[in-house]
Amino acid sequence: MSFENPYANEKLAKDYIRRSRGYDGRYLIRLLRRYLPTNRSILELGMGPGVDLDILSETYIATGSDLSEAFLEIYRKNNPGTSVILLNAIDLNTKDQFDAIYSNKVLQHLTREELHLSFQRQIDILTSRGILCHSFWKGDTSERDEFGCMYYTKELLWEIANNYSDVLLLESYAEMETDDSIVLIAQKR
Ligand SMILES: C[S@@+](CC[C@H](N)C(=O)[O-])C[C@H]1O[C@@H](n2cnc3c(N)ncnc32)[C@H](O)[C@@H]1O
Repeated sequence: MSFENPYANEKLAKDYIRRSRGYDGRYLIRLLRRYLPTNRSILELGMGPGVDLDILSETYIATGSDLSEAFLEIYRKNNPGTSVILLNAIDLNTKDQFDAIYSNKVLQHLTREELHLSFQRQIDILTSRGILCHSFWKGDTSERDEFGCMYYTKELLWEIANNYSDVLLLESYAEMETDDSIVLIAQKR
């Protein structure tokens, strides 16, 4: 069953912005640069406060998106003139195509089934040989935690991603603790 987005209103979004201060996806974006040349188009899913969107925009033509209108409003207010869009990572209801799709700690809010649907849609909206780059919380439980997060092992992620793409990189890394996270980079077949 889908989990209600825990960032759905302005107060929850602002709480997250406070809690996540000091964290960013610079490490992931450095890995991504090995596979995605500069000036390509990239869509970020679940941009939240937009910290990674700003870093991605240094190198790429980046479009931010989120399911939470609250995050989009806050970002628009602080960055007048920029365009960020309301998009659910499950059905990706857009006609646009991108050379890459990026997310940092977003897809763990989806059920396993929704993750499959999301990968299928991501492949649809990628240009030829486009790149995916996503991070996940690492763990071997199949239950959601109190924050609505699903956990993944490298093996399970490889199994899912390999249905839709060629896996280029699958590595553990540390976000808050040693080896608590996984980064997946894959390419459209
Ligand atoms: C843990 S926060 C991560 C935010 C940001 N990527 C970061 O690194 O700080 C999860 C984000 O995913 C968004 N989100 C949750 N479910 C989503 C969905 N189905 N589609 C798009 N975004 C979603 C939330 O609104 C929130 O912005």
